[in-house]
Amino acid sequence: EKAGFDHFMLKEIYEQPKAYRDTMGSRIDAAGGQVVLNEVKLTPQQIWDIHNIHIVACGTAYHAGLVGKAVIEQLARIPVEVDVASEYRYRDPIITANTLVIVVSQSGETADTLAALREARRSGARVIAITNVVGSSVSREADDVIVTWAGPEIAVASTKAYTSQLIAFYLLGLHFAQTLGLQDETMIRSTIAALLKLPEQVEQILAQAEQIKEYAEHIASHNDLFFIGRGSDYAVAQEGSLKLKEISYIHSEAYAAGELKHGTLALIEEGIPVIALATQEHLLEKTVSNIKEVKARGAQVFAIAFEGNPDIGKAVDLVFEIPRTLSLLAPALSVIPLQLLAYYASLARGNDVDKPRNLAKSVTVE
Ligand code: F6R
Repeated sequence: EKAGFDHFMLKEIYEQPKAYRDTMGSRIDAAGGQVVLNEVKLTPQQIWDIHNIHIVACGTAYHAGLVGKAVIEQLARIPVEVDVASEYRYRDPIITANTLVIVVSQSGETADTLAALREARRSGARVIAITNVVGSSVSREADDVIVTWAGPEIAVASTKAYTSQLIAFYLLGLHFAQTLGLQDETMIRSTIAALLKLPEQVEQILAQAEQIKEYAEHIASHNDLFFIGRGSDYAVAQEGSLKLKEISYIHSEAYAAGELKHGTLALIEEGIPVIALATQEHLLEKTVSNIKEVKARGAQVFAIAFEGNPDIGKAVDLVFEIPRTLSLLAPALSVIPLQLLAYYASLARGNDVDKPRNLAKSVTVE
């Protein structure tokens, strides 16, 4: 059932090109240059009337929501807040009839996410669910459901469900942008073309897994490390850090690169690994200057960057290159090496990769 892979997690990492294709599926009309998201039944007027969006989820799904915020705000210019469900449900959020709530849950059964959905509906908001399980509690109780067609995810650490959630946000962001007429046709068309290239680009990254394995074996003997990034790179850094902690038990922290000098820089000492996400072109110069800050204090920096970026190469110890895409879509590529890193670090430490200690796949109690 692991189809020749040693672990479900590795199998699921390699299933991502298919998960991307299946989640995009018939929702992209490439010839017509548009997204067709029939399952979102909001009328154009209702989309116009959205004042704000709350994205609510837990763990990895929350991290997908952080990327979702950037996508929706950039494409549709609607203000978005992202909350972890266990906070949202108790913080008396300001929800009006013009608030759209988007809950994200692979299983569709997470207790806090479900409670947040119910709270949102009680307050009169419309709820869209992004879930991987057709017929799940979340899918039954939401107004609209976008199914991520990642297929069953068995490993406790989420991989293909997360990236399929990113695809769902890209489709939703484009759907809103099209409806609101906010982006010109060329922009929509080029984003769709870039989306369609992602599965093949993921395959190119997977073909270089050996490079990541080597680096993972190097960090396996460390007890602390840092992930840094700006913008969507920061969102991906948070997901990379969670994945690593969850299965390798190596302590790590993700920091917005510009925040380091406000405290965390004190922890940077000789030899500490720092993983720098550097895909956001408009922020690159700033990220490079943060990389120099940690290098100057002895950190060993491993960067994830688009191919053909000499400035990054010069500034760090090691670069893992990913194929070029739009900045907005970069998370769907840059997270792949981080998933592989967590996997191989866990393996090198002799852990039970698919069943990390103290954790359950589906958290149906508070
Ligand atoms: C981490 C992980 C968890 C889940 C979280 C929410 O790898 O899998 O953080 O993302 O428990 O689960 P769902 O998406 O089922 O609501």
